[in-house]
Amino acid sequence: MTYTNLLTELRSNILIITINRPDKLNALNRQTLNEIRDAVQSVYDNSEIKGAIITGSGNKAFVAGADISEFKNASRKSGEALAQYGHDIFFMIERCPKPIIAAVNGFCLGGGCEMAMSCHIRVASENAKFGQPEVNLGIVPGYGGTQRMVQLVGKAKALELIMTADIIGAQDAWRIGLVNHVTGNEALIPKCMEILEKIKQKAPVAIARTINCVNGYFEEGTDGFKKEVEEFGYCCETEDFAEGTAAFLEKRKANFKGK
Ligand code: COA
Repeated sequence: MTYTNLLTELRSNILIITINRPDKLNALNRQTLNEIRDAVQSVYDNSEIKGAIITGSGNKAFVAGADISEFKNASRKSGEALAQYGHDIFFMIERCPKPIIAAVNGFCLGGGCEMAMSCHIRVASENAKFGQPEVNLGIVPGYGGTQRMVQLVGKAKALELIMTADIIGAQDAWRIGLVNHVTGNEALIPKCMEILEKIKQKAPVAIARTINCVNGYFEEGTDGFKKEVEEFGYCCETEDFAEGTAAFLEKRKANFKGK
């Protein structure tokens, strides 16, 4: 797929996906969502890609939300379809078997915050600003924000952030557990690369299965402990497990194949 609103770069086997509509503060219109879905699918499918970073172009915004200009004349039916489409893509990010980090480099509002929350890890630059301002527009967050915000920061803080539509800075986002790290603006991508480089050295099957287990905690009808038992057993029959344990006993670095 040729992208109109994304830039992609493969750097050290990490796909850097940059949402590129800076004049609209990288707002997520339909086309951009389609392209994000395609880029994330390539993270699943391409064995050269070991992980991904999602960021925004320019120095003002990560993503300032869903594109409000596309909300005109929305009906109950079209609204539900739009929210479902966002859900499907953000579940794809959350369930990706390879690590995806949001590099939040400015306004991270509404659908932007929801996308960042669907990533496995969030790193923010000092100028990042977070919020779910949907109630200003007369809607609820529609791309998973009411659920993932609670998962990350707890019910009380989530309700306050969503109901007041307050916009908070990077340090406050870190304090409440919304982001993992805060860096200087220039250090943002290097910090994400450093984390991914570390994860890249580990057994890929174990990483994929870890993501699956942790997501299991939040899945309705899933017993996460049972899932962990199953995934542990699964890992025991992988080549990565044989290699990891052999490398430890032979006092050498493991050479994982992801099998
Ligand atoms: N959807 C569509 N366009 C958006 C947008 C969005 N979510 N956020 C920003 N833009 C556009 C603006 O309309 C403007 O376009 P224009 O130059 O063609 O008029 C451009 O991006 C720059 O935004 P602007 O509002 O002029 O920048 P600012 O620095 O004054 O304000 C914000 C920045 C983020 C505070 C403000 O843009 C804003 O409140 N955006 C909407 C945030 C929101 O409600 N998101 C949730 C959507 S569900």
